[in-house]
Amino acid sequence: MQKELEDILEKAKDYQIKTKDELENFRLKFLSKKSALQTIFDNFKNFSVEEKKTLGRKLNEVKQSLESIFESHKHLYDDNTIKSLADNSVTVNAIEIGSQHPISIIQNEIIGIFDQLGFVVSEGPEIEDDWHNFSALNFPPDHPARDMQDTFFVDKEYALRTHTSSVQVRVMENNKPPIRIIAPGRVYRNEAVSARSNSFFHQIEGLVIDEESTFADMKQTLYHFVSKLFGEREIRFRASYFPFTEPSAEMDIYLGTETESDYRLTKGTGWLEVLGCGMLDPNVLINCGIDPEKYSGYAFGLGIDRLAMLRYGIKDIRQMFQNDVRFLHQFKGL
Ligand code: PHE
Repeated sequence: MQKELEDILEKAKDYQIKTKDELENFRLKFLSKKSALQTIFDNFKNFSVEEKKTLGRKLNEVKQSLESIFESHKHLYDDNTIKSLADNSVTVNAIEIGSQHPISIIQNEIIGIFDQLGFVVSEGPEIEDDWHNFSALNFPPDHPARDMQDTFFVDKEYALRTHTSSVQVRVMENNKPPIRIIAPGRVYRNEAVSARSNSFFHQIEGLVIDEESTFADMKQTLYHFVSKLFGEREIRFRASYFPFTEPSAEMDIYLGTETESDYRLTKGTGWLEVLGCGMLDPNVLINCGIDPEKYSGYAFGLGIDRLAMLRYGIKDIRQMFQNDVRFLHQFKGL
C-alpha cells in the first residue's frame, strides 16, 4: 500500500499542468471521488490497527501534497491569465497596472515644460482664508467674486480657494525675489454643473518676480509653453481685468472649427481661452512685503481640465471625476 501511495505522488508530481483543462484533469485524476487515492481512503476501514497507524499518516501526507500541487496552479482557472504558446513557457498571472488620471498627465507635462525654464513647484492649502484668496490680491470688500454664488464658504473667515492665485500670496510672503514658481492645484467655485463646467477644477498658477520682469517676458514664456504643449499655434492676448494684475490679459489659442469638438470647445469661434495673466499690481507686492519700486512681476493662471478634454477628446468634464474604471483604463500607458 505504501508503494501504491508513493506511485500516486510520483505521477502527480510529473503531471503536466499548464492549462485550465490540464488542471481540471489533474483534479479528476488525483483528488476527485473517483481517484485512486479516494479508493484507498474508502478501503481504510478494512486495514489492521497496525497498518492504519502508518498508512494513515502517509495517506494524509500524500493527500496534502496533491492538494498543494492543485492549489499552486489554481490561478489557471482565472480568465486574466496570459498563456504563452511556446512549449517551455511559464504561466504567469496578469498584474493589473493602474493608469494616470488625464488631469495628472497634463499637469505633469506642464510642470515639466516650466521646470525647464527654471520654475519650481509650490503648493498651498485648499481651504484658504480671506486674506490669501481675496484681500491680499486687491479684491475690494464688495467684489462680486466674494459673493456667496461663486465661493464655497466654510465659515466667516475660511472658504475653499477659488483660484490658485492664493499660493502667489503665500510664496511672496515667505520668499525674497527673485521668485519663479508654478503652483498646480484644485480650486472650487459654486457654479452650475454642466458638461463644460464643474464645481471644482484644476489650475496651474505661475509667478515670476524679479528686478526687470516685463510683459514681453511673460508673453514669450507663455508662447514657449503653448508651442511645447500643442506645437506651433496661433495665440492672441485680449485685454482683460483681474484685481491683482495691471495690465491684465487673457490668452487664447487658435484651434479652428474643423472638428466637432473644436467647434464645441471654442463655441464656434475657433479660439480657446486657456489662461488669465498680467503684471502684478503694485498693491499686491506691497501687501506681501515686496518693494514695487525695486521689483516687478507677472503672474498667470491656466485651467487644465479643458486642456485635458481637448487633448483626449473628452466630451463631458464630469466623466473625469466619476472614477469609472472603464473611462480611466483608457489612459493606461500614457
Ligand atoms: N486667478 C485668475 C482666475 O482664476 C487667473 C489669473 C492668474 C489671472 C494670475 C491673472 C494672473 O481666473
